[in-house]
Amino acid sequence: MPNLAYTRMGVDETLRLYPPAWITNRRAIQDDTICGYRIPADAIVSISPYVTHRDPGLWENPEGFDPERFSPERSAGCPHYAYFPFGGEPRQCIGKETMQPDDVPLWLRPKAPPKDEQPEHAGHAPV
Ligand code: HEM
Repeated sequence: MPNLAYTRMGVDETLRLYPPAWITNRRAIQDDTICGYRIPADAIVSISPYVTHRDPGLWENPEGFDPERFSPERSAGCPHYAYFPFGGEPRQCIGKETMQPDDVPLWLRPKAPPKDEQPEHAGHAPV
């Protein structure tokens, strides 16, 4: 689907503003210090794509819906973890590749009507 470049940008922008996994948590296995913050062992550390994706220090007009911010020209140089709707290694989402915009036509496929509302001689069963 080489012609879906704009669709890809639209999906990326939708996942930026509305990441379904808006927060993830980790438990610290030992004491640590991150950016000057002391993290004691066993503390729960929350990381939010929703908050990061709307950080005005990382994004221009963060609340605006602007798919073209994901164009190759404008997204060049974007910090690696400014955008992580699928998490990050080593626990990155295994569905990331299957949820790519090339599959958007599949996502948009109308849901099959309930069995008792299907036409009697439809010719083939809905998938
Ligand atoms: C738009 C769709 C999806 C989004 C936004 C999404 C998001 C995420 C995120 C943020 C994580 C990391 C969670 C963390 O770090 O704590 C994750 C992990 C995971 N996702 Fe997805 N996901 C999506 C679709 C899928 C699909 C379709 C599958 C299955 C085919 C899937 C399977 C998994 C699994 C198994 C993990 C755990 C990976 C691990 O811990 O090693 N996800 N997902």
